[in-house]
Amino acid sequence: MAISTRLTQRLGLTHPVICAPMDVIAGGKLAAAVSGAGGLGMLGGGYSDEDDWFEREFAAAGNQAVGCGFITWALRKNPRILDAVMARKPKAIFLSFDDPEPFASKIKAAGIPVLCQLQTRADAERAIDCGVDVIVAQGTEGGGHGGARATLTLVPEIADLIARRAPQTLLCAAGGIVDGRGLGAALMLGADGVVVGTRFWASPEALVPASLHSAALAASGDDTVRQSVLDIVRERPWPARYTGRVLRNDFVREWLGREGELRDARAEQVTRYRTAARVADPAIAATIVGEGVGLIHAIEPAAVILERMVVEAEARLKSGAKLIT
Ligand SMILES: Cc1cc2nc3c(=O)[nH]c(=O)nc-3n(C[C@H](O)[C@H](O)[C@H](O)COP(=O)(O)O)c2cc1C
Repeated sequence: MAISTRLTQRLGLTHPVICAPMDVIAGGKLAAAVSGAGGLGMLGGGYSDEDDWFEREFAAAGNQAVGCGFITWALRKNPRILDAVMARKPKAIFLSFDDPEPFASKIKAAGIPVLCQLQTRADAERAIDCGVDVIVAQGTEGGGHGGARATLTLVPEIADLIARRAPQTLLCAAGGIVDGRGLGAALMLGADGVVVGTRFWASPEALVPASLHSAALAASGDDTVRQSVLDIVRERPWPARYTGRVLRNDFVREWLGREGELRDARAEQVTRYRTAARVADPAIAATIVGEGVGLIHAIEPAAVILERMVVEAEARLKSGAKLIT
C-alpha cells in the first residue's frame, strides 16, 4: 500500500512528505533519514551567513539525495551561496519568505525543482507568475516564522487558485501537520503532499539540544505563541510581516508587547540571550515549535515518524470512505 500523488510522481518519492528546511537544526543527518525513509529531506541552512554549513551538512547526508532551503530575504544578502549549493545538484531548492525572484528563474533554468513556501493568496499569485514547481502553503499553526492565515483555509484557497491559473503547479500544505490525521486532511484539502517541521524537529537526528526537546515534550499547543521579541535579541531583523512561533518561555513572557523597550535595552539583553542560548536554557533560549507540539509525546527517529504518519493516513483515508453510505 502507498499514497501516490502528483508530488511523489514528479519528485520520485515513495511518500508525499517533505521535511521542512529548519534553520541550522535540519542538517544532513535529518535530511538523509527522511529521504532514506522515502520522503524528501531538506538541509535548512539558516540565514545563509555560514559559508561552510552546506558543505559540512551535504557531507553528513552522505549519498542520499536531499534538497536545500533558503530564507529568501537572507539569501539576497549573500547570493553566491546559491551557486555553491546548485553546483551540488540538490534534489530540490526550497525558497521561503519574500519574493522568489531572481532566484526561482535561475534554479529552474538549471533543471532543479523550485519549491516556494508562502503565507497568503497574493504571495501564491506571485509564485505562479514566477513559474515555481511547488507552492508550499504555510499556515500560522506552524513552528518558526510565518504569517496569519490558518492551514485549513489557506490550502484549499490556493488549491482553487492553482486549478484556475496553473494546474501543472503542485501544492503542499505546511503548518500543524504532525501525524497521519494531518497528512490525510491535507490531501483532502487539495494538497499533493505535506511539509513537516515540528514533528521532525522532535527526532534524534535533528540538531536540537536535549533541554529544548524536554521543554517541548512537556508543552501543549496552548504554550506556543507568535512573536518577534526573540528576533530582536537574536539580532535577526525579519521583515515586519513575519512573526515566529515558539514556546512561550520566561523571556517571551517578560518582553512580549514591550518590543520598543527591548530594543532600548538591547545591548544587555542580547548578552543575556546569548549566554542562555549557549547552554540551551529553555527559559530564555528560543524553542521553535508549532502548535502541533501538543501532539508529540516522544523524541523518535525520523524514519519511525514518517512510516507511522503514512500508515495512519492510509488507514484514516480508507476508514473515511466508509462514512459514505
Ligand atoms: C525549528 C524550526 C525552524 C524553522 N526554520 C525555517 C527556516 O529556516 N526556513 C524555512 O523556510 N522555514 C523554517 N521553518 C518553518 C517550516 O518551513 C515549516 O513551515 C513549518 O515547520 C511547518 O509547520 P510545523 O512546524 O507545524 O510542521 C522552521 C520551523 C521550525 C519548527
